[in-house]
Amino acid sequence: MALLTWVTLGLYTLSCKAGTTIWSGSFNAYPTVSAFDLWSWGNEVGEYQWYIHGTQNTSHYLALGPSYKNPADTSETNGLKLTVDATSTWNSQFERTELIPQTTQNLGTGNLFYHFTISHPSTNLPDSTIEHQICFFESHFTELKYGVAPNATYLTWMVQEVPYWGMPFTPGVFFNIAYDIDFSAQTVGLWASTGSNPLVKVVQNVPASASTNSEDWHLGVLRLVNGGTEDWYFSGVYIETGPITTSVGNGTGGSTTTTPASSSTSVSSSTTTSSTTTTATGPTQTHYGQCGGTGYTGPTVCQSPYTCTSISPPYYYQCL
Ligand SMILES: *[C@@H]1O[C@H](CO)[C@@H](O)[C@H](O)[C@H]1NC(C)=O
Ligand SMILES: *[C@@H]1O[C@H](CO)[C@@H](O)[C@H](O)[C@H]1NC(C)=O
Ligand SMILES: *[C@@H]1O[C@H](CO)[C@@H](O)[C@H](O)[C@H]1NC(C)=O
Repeated sequence: MALLTWVTLGLYTLSCKAGTTIWSGSFNAYPTVSAFDLWSWGNEVGEYQWYIHGTQNTSHYLALGPSYKNPADTSETNGLKLTVDATSTWNSQFERTELIPQTTQNLGTGNLFYHFTISHPSTNLPDSTIEHQICFFESHFTELKYGVAPNATYLTWMVQEVPYWGMPFTPGVFFNIAYDIDFSAQTVGLWASTGSNPLVKVVQNVPASASTNSEDWHLGVLRLVNGGTEDWYFSGVYIETGPITTSVGNGTGGSTTTTPASSSTSVSSSTTTSSTTTTATGPTQTHYGQCGGTGYTGPTVCQSPYTCTSISPPYYYQCL
């Protein structure tokens, strides 16, 4: 009991250094997927509104399980598997499976960070020939997309329909994302990392018509249209005030808050570095891990046979 108290206090202290969570979408609140059905317009309970889905039962579109979450995130027991298929038509010609925050908090004021982790397995792959809109606001001032120009096989971050950042949407890789939305200044930037790496600011804030009525952020996928069965994984969903929590999960692995050092870039701006010598004595980064970029302080040498590759210079380099 004493140990538990100390652990709890430790986490509390850590979380105090970062922002305050104003809405949590942790799936710990959902012991089974049938709990999503407790919400209705007449009974607005729980963390999520659940109404944007196709004709089948909830268990057809949602499943909970430990393999659906980022394994680095120890704060959550399960992640959510979300399925989009030919039955997923809702209120339109589009195919969609989406959750909406259920909260009385104002999710559209000041500078807020919208956190989530997204991944997909190597089965039921998303179709890169079809546009997908992911984790979007009704006005689409910022969102992720898949199956769009310039890189159809990338997970692409957009502001006002303009692509600013993307990474190959490789199966099995957990992409940690935070939209950095300044509703006062009307700008939005992006923080991102993979696996257990702390979030790094990969795109500085750019102008956007940022607004939300606090119930129009769609955690999920809208597809245009007529594709096969696709599975998407989500975890680590929460919205906080600044300063941003850069660690994944609850204070494990990585610094709690960092301000990117605008002057330090750990990797040269050549498209691919050749520093993959096996004689390196320092720590090496694993496949898909980050190996450089503004503010990054971790290993810059990749494990053999991977090469530190420029993904979004000068902000992000990855072992591929
Ligand atoms: C949906 O759930 C209801 C009630 O549990 C059940 O009677 C029905 O068979 C289910 N439908 C499908 C398509 O699974
Ligand atoms: C598209 O891919 C190219 C080549 O990898 C890359 O330089 C560019 O940043 C990518 N753009 C986006 C928005 O993903
Ligand atoms: C971290 O822990 C605090 C306190 O237990 C909790 O309120 C918060 O939602 C947690 N954050 C995440 C991302 O799980």
